[in-house]
Amino acid sequence: MKVSVKVPATIANLGCGFDCFGLAIPIHNIITIEETIMPGSGIEINILGDDSQNNLENIPTDKSSIIYKAIELLYSYMGQVPEELKIDIKTSIPVARGLGSSSSVIVGALVAANELLGNPADLSVLLSIATELEGHPDNITPALVGGITMATQEDDGSVVYRKLPWPKEWKLMVCIPDYELSTGISRSVLPNEVDRKDAIFNLRRTAMMVEAIHTKDEELMKLALKDKLHEPYREKLVPTLSLLKENLKHIQGVLGCVLAGAGPSVLIITNGTNQTEIKEVIENTYKESNVTLKLINTPIEEKGAERI
Ligand code: HSE
Repeated sequence: MKVSVKVPATIANLGCGFDCFGLAIPIHNIITIEETIMPGSGIEINILGDDSQNNLENIPTDKSSIIYKAIELLYSYMGQVPEELKIDIKTSIPVARGLGSSSSVIVGALVAANELLGNPADLSVLLSIATELEGHPDNITPALVGGITMATQEDDGSVVYRKLPWPKEWKLMVCIPDYELSTGISRSVLPNEVDRKDAIFNLRRTAMMVEAIHTKDEELMKLALKDKLHEPYREKLVPTLSLLKENLKHIQGVLGCVLAGAGPSVLIITNGTNQTEIKEVIENTYKESNVTLKLINTPIEEKGAERI
């Protein structure tokens, strides 16, 4: 039997909602798992994709691979051990750019392996296993269910999430630079403890963001798309971010400019107007920083992981 699953890229945090908010966009990885009949062949993982935008050779394919671990965890949940499996990962999501490539392969491997096993694990089990591996639910949740989500993982490992109704007028521009930044490095610059006033700053804005999205309130959204818990520390790793914020601050139509996940990509949210000027400012800012940019306009992907 052979199962293929398509999983969207995701953008986490959205400024104030560190490790909480995430949204899916329509760039996909395809994960195919096939039971092989060669006894003792073990688990074979092949990464296939466009090597010009990704250092695919850096992605582990042995037992240290996150894909292997995801499958092992699902099988052990069933009291089983995975044996002969051939796994092909067809990548279109750029690696180490803050676009949820690791979440997409974890989710794809779990959903495909679950199909092979006859779907013993429901959505809540898949969410918990995937989040346990990833460490936070913000990318995992939209990768599994699509749309824009807010999510938390509780002490017992369960993930609680809700989808939010993204206003269709609001548009996303994603700036993908030509360099990689690992989530590990990007998290290593964060302090273990934060100032109470910074925590309160984000707390207020996270509440405002939920209301802003529900009521399509642009002024509230502008206020909400600010952060003091991670972006200020990460700006030294992604210097273009502060420059973009500055250059876009007074441009009509811009609701905010935030780091995409752990970076280095940047997400710009607009109200859908003045797109040409906004694009020009973004491109000039990257030129000024000497960083090669791929700029995409994208809708939200409403569909999460699905068998194809
Ligand atoms: N919330 C995570 C972070 C997303 O910002 O580190 C990246 O995995």
